[in-house]
Order: sequence, then structure tokens, then C-alpha cells
Amino acid sequence: MDRSLRVGLVGTGFMGRTHSNAYHQTRRFFPDNVGVELVAVCSRDGAKARDFAKQWGFASHETDWRDLVSRDDIDLIDIASPNDTHAEIAVAAAQNGKMVASEKPLGRTLEESRRMVEAVETAGVANMVWYNYRRVPALTLARQMIDEGRLGRIFHSRFKFLQDWTISPDLPQGGAGTWRLDSAVAGSGVTGDLLAHCIDAALWLVGPMSEVCGTTEVFVPERLHALSGKREPITLDDASLFMARFDNGSLATFEATRFARGHKALFTLEINGEKGSIAWDLHDLHRLQYFSYDGDSAMRGWRSIHVTDGDHPYMKAWWVPGLQIGYEHTFIHQMADFLAEIRSGTKTVPDFRDGLAADAVVDAVLKSARSRSWQTVESTAKSAGLEGAA
Ligand SMILES: NC(=O)c1ccc[n+]([C@@H]2O[C@H](COP(=O)([O-])OP(=O)(O)OC[C@H]3O[C@@H](n4cnc5c(N)ncnc54)[C@H](O)[C@@H]3O)[C@@H](O)[C@H]2O)c1
Repeated sequence: MDRSLRVGLVGTGFMGRTHSNAYHQTRRFFPDNVGVELVAVCSRDGAKARDFAKQWGFASHETDWRDLVSRDDIDLIDIASPNDTHAEIAVAAAQNGKMVASEKPLGRTLEESRRMVEAVETAGVANMVWYNYRRVPALTLARQMIDEGRLGRIFHSRFKFLQDWTISPDLPQGGAGTWRLDSAVAGSGVTGDLLAHCIDAALWLVGPMSEVCGTTEVFVPERLHALSGKREPITLDDASLFMARFDNGSLATFEATRFARGHKALFTLEINGEKGSIAWDLHDLHRLQYFSYDGDSAMRGWRSIHVTDGDHPYMKAWWVPGLQIGYEHTFIHQMADFLAEIRSGTKTVPDFRDGLAADAVVDAVLKSARSRSWQTVESTAKSAGLEGAA
């Protein structure tokens, strides 16, 4: 592509803002890529869509995503709306020959996720899922270190994503802001929401998972529904824990909850290998903790790498060494990589098939919790075919 990428965005909430910011900043900080033109934004509320378009520099707005995906002046449809909209919009966009970027999880169910992959692959359009944490420079560095063999054979890993915002039984479900508690909209609870980030990081850093054994809990079984005005059961998971075995023989534990008082967005991971270990914490996202077993035993110990130097991933594009960047930069980096991928044709960003792989683990965890048994993770490799088990 030798002209600017023309973008149509769906959703003006939290992710609508992070993506819009990424479009602006990637042009400024990664100027070698193809440009970006913000053509239209879509939200069901016309006034909101118009105000958002003005604030974020979109040339026009729509109130129905169907009008957005049928426009001739748009190359990429970017889906930043709740989970119940992803499959329908992505399939329609791909059928109209658009590139598609979707927020995670891909679908509410594995069946929806498979349809989304089938649609983009049949249409042959570029696609991406926003697993933005891969683009935290410290985690990109972690991946480089694993690829270089610095950890050696991996034995263990542990992942957590902890929040506390749903503890009050007075918090409603459904509607703006609390759609995450409504299973019809969200699909699953913390498993597909928070734990999906941990699962994607695990698949990316450690490798494919073969089987899982998990349990989930609903701590508040009924909440007022913001749209129906009635108290309705909560049928999705407030908390989710699981153990995993990987194809490489290593073991992992995972935990996500919205009931960990005192934690707002604590994503942590640790990986232990034969030659060394790494640990990372979203609240201190520019640091990577590293233990190397090499060298003089008296001098061994954990070191804290401040990932802010010009030779660290992405950091050359930013400030001078020693100065930090933050959460919003992960989206900027992912968009910059997607634009580079469009030009080079070489895959660098997580695509829909990577999203499907994470969703297959989510599905296996939920099945395991229901059946109280170990579950095999369904293969999502291209060779396994899309039809696989539903
Ligand atoms: N990558 C991440 O770190 C991350 C973080 C948060 C959310 N997410 C994902 O992003 C998506 C959006 O989450 P959010 O936190 O931005 O939600 P949000 O509630 O803040 O915003 C959702 C937006 O979608 C709009 N919307 C809803 N239905 C629509 C429809 N039918 N047509 C057009 N617009 C519609 C709403 O009006 C709102 O503007 C979800 O899939 C969520 O899982 C990802």
C-alpha cells in the first residue's frame, strides 16, 4: 500500500480512545510507515459519535456500523465495541473486502471466533487482534531473551490479572460501563476478559498449551440489570483459576478476578527456566526483572532492567535513555507494527488466528470448570482446519 490507510472505528469508549490516540501518535513517532487517515467513527449515539469525531479528528461519523463497513472510502474497520458486536462486524467487514482489527476476545464463544477467522482468511484481508501487552517494551524484550535461549528450557510460569471493581453487590450488570457482567454481551467473565491477556502472553512467551484444569466462581449471583430494571442471575465468572500443561513440557498457573480488594489492574507474570528467570508487573511496566544463573555464583542475583534505553525495543522512537513511557504506547506500537506489516507483508502483530488460539484456551478453561476435569485445548492451527469441533 503506497497511500494512507483509511480507518473506520467502531466504539467511542475506553478502547475507542486508546486506538484513536494510537492512530495520531504512530504518524508522529513512526513516520516511516504508511500514513493514517481517520475517515469515520461509529457509535449508536449520534451526538456522542459527532463529539468524538471532533475531539479525535475523524472526518465524519456514523450511527450504524453497517453503514461504516459498506463505505468505499475505508480500508480498515477497527472494532472497539463490546464483545457481542465483534463477530458480526468483523465478518461483514471482511466480506466487504476491508482489513479488520478487533479488540479481544475475538468472539463470545469459540464458534464466533472461528467464524471471524474463516471470514478474514477467506477474504484474504489483513487482520489483527489488539493483544497490546505484547508491545510493552519490557515484554517484547522478554520474548527476545527467550528466543535467544537466555532462560533455556522453561519449567514453570505463573500469570495473574487482579482487579477489585465488582465487589459491591449494588453494582448493576448490563448497559454502558457494566456490560462486562452481562453474559449475553460479554460471553464469559474474567476468563475471556482479563485472563485472555495472560493466556495470550503465555502462548506468545512460553508456547502452545496442550491441556488445562480450572475452576471459576460467581461471588455475587444476582444483580440488577441496568437495561431491564430487574434483578437477574449472573451467569459468568467473577473469578477464574487454572493450571496448564504446555507442549514443551512446562507447567503454569493462572488467576484472574475482579474481587481482589486493593488491586485495580495488577497483571503480573514470572517465567522460570533452566538458565534463568524473568518477572514483570504492569504497575512497574518499564522494568523487567531478570535472574541469570551464568557467571560467578557469589555475584548472582535478580537484576532490574530499566527498559528505557535506545537499544531496547521501540525506545529509539521515544525520549532520551532513562525516560519512561506508559500504557498508551502499547497501542501505538501495535498500530505502528501493523502499518509496517501492511507495507512489508511480513507478519508481526497478533492476528485473528492468534486471537482464536487464546479463545480456544478460554473455552477449555470454562469447560474444565463446568466438568471439574482436565480438558484438552482444541487445535487452532491452520492445518487443523476451521471446522474442528465447535
Ligand atoms: N486490549 C485491552 O487491553 C482492552 C482493554 C479494555 C477493553 N478491551 C476490549 O475492547 C472492547 C471495548 O471495551 P471498552 O472498555 O472500550 O468498552 P466501553 O464500554 O468503554 O466502550 C464501548 C463502546 O462501544 C459502543 N458500542 C456498543 N455497541 C455498539 C454498536 N452496536 N455499534 C457501535 N458502537 C457500539 C459504546 O457506545 C461505547 O462507545 C471489548 O471487546 C473489550 O474486551 C480491550
